[in-house]
Amino acid sequence: MMKHPRTGRPHLRTVSITGVGSYLPARVLTNQDLEKMVSTTSEWIMTRTGIEQRRIAAPDEATSDLAFLAAKRALHDARITPDQVELIIVATITPDMLFPSTACLVQQKLGAHRAAAFDIEAACSGFIYALDIAAHFVQSHTYDTVLVIGAEKMSSVIDWKDRNTCVLFGDGAGAAVLQNRPTAHGLLTTCLGADGTKATLLDMPGGGSACPASVESVEKRMHFLRMDGKETFKNAVNAMVSAATEALDRCGLSISQIRCVIPHQANQRIISAVGERLGATEEQVFVNVAKYGNTSAASVAIALDEAVRTERIRRGDLVLMVVFGAGLTWGAAIIEW
Ligand SMILES: CC(C)(COP(=O)(O)OP(=O)(O)OC[C@H]1O[C@@H](n2cnc3c(N)ncnc32)[C@H](O)[C@@H]1OP(=O)(O)O)[C@@H](O)C(=O)NCCC(=O)NCCS
Repeated sequence: MMKHPRTGRPHLRTVSITGVGSYLPARVLTNQDLEKMVSTTSEWIMTRTGIEQRRIAAPDEATSDLAFLAAKRALHDARITPDQVELIIVATITPDMLFPSTACLVQQKLGAHRAAAFDIEAACSGFIYALDIAAHFVQSHTYDTVLVIGAEKMSSVIDWKDRNTCVLFGDGAGAAVLQNRPTAHGLLTTCLGADGTKATLLDMPGGGSACPASVESVEKRMHFLRMDGKETFKNAVNAMVSAATEALDRCGLSISQIRCVIPHQANQRIISAVGERLGATEEQVFVNVAKYGNTSAASVAIALDEAVRTERIRRGDLVLMVVFGAGLTWGAAIIEW
């Protein structure tokens, strides 16, 4: 089998991202707004996280609605119609409901009646996990056109009385269309990882089979996200640096060859620490955490769309995406745009 010139691995079918799109709900929640809700200051939030504001979905807007609007934009960008989509993968930890999957609800909203559909759950790493799964379907000739979406209504699982967590997250969705384009550039590598021994660092204990909803589970606030911020921070930096390094090594690339690094947008200090340890310049690292906060599985998908639209990424550029989330999970992907 032919070897890929850059990765040295067997040359599978090229997988290109042929369209991207994102959707952010209209309502803006500022740090000043949060000062009126919990004991915090805008200054504390800014200096500890770099977040200035986040978007909050309307009460009648569910994750599938955000996903649908991002997907519509990505299909338009790829110049394809919904009936050309053969598979929809939605990465989310805030599905509309436990079942059916949010992907099935998006399929119905899009009218993508030919598409198979399922959700995956890898928390904030979800988009890169979904991208990797989707790429394998395209590489193996199973499908030619796959729609990958990261979408979250984090505001639905936030404890708005917990200042440790409620200042960090926001709602939104990002989408990408993956297709085989024999003459085009594409995904060079993806690396994924997980560590279930640290599952309790960041979790939501209620509502699943281990702790179904009950009066007690509601009273104990078990249907909200919980986090050990300090430990999560340390693990995030280490895991993102090693995932990115592994991806670069696999492709025989150095960080200076990467035009744009798109890290998971959780916290400016995490992003800066990862950038510094990788040896990336500030100009290389894409940041929009100030505007949207941590949108979990949607984060790098939204950032990718913004980077393309603002021409931070141009055709032929090398792009490194790197993520980290609950699980613990992490991952990295390198794309030749
Ligand atoms: C949450 C986080 C911003 C806290 O920053 P930090 O520098 O670790 O904060 P510290 O632990 O030094 O300070 C915590 C103190 O600030 C207080 N505090 C927490 N949230 C606060 C807020 N919104 N406003 C004011 N004070 C706050 C705490 O109560 C604590 O006070 P205490 O020391 O009196 O108990 C940081 O740990 C973090 O970003 N962690 C990673 C979170 C993340 O990105 N998770 C998702 C990964 S996908």
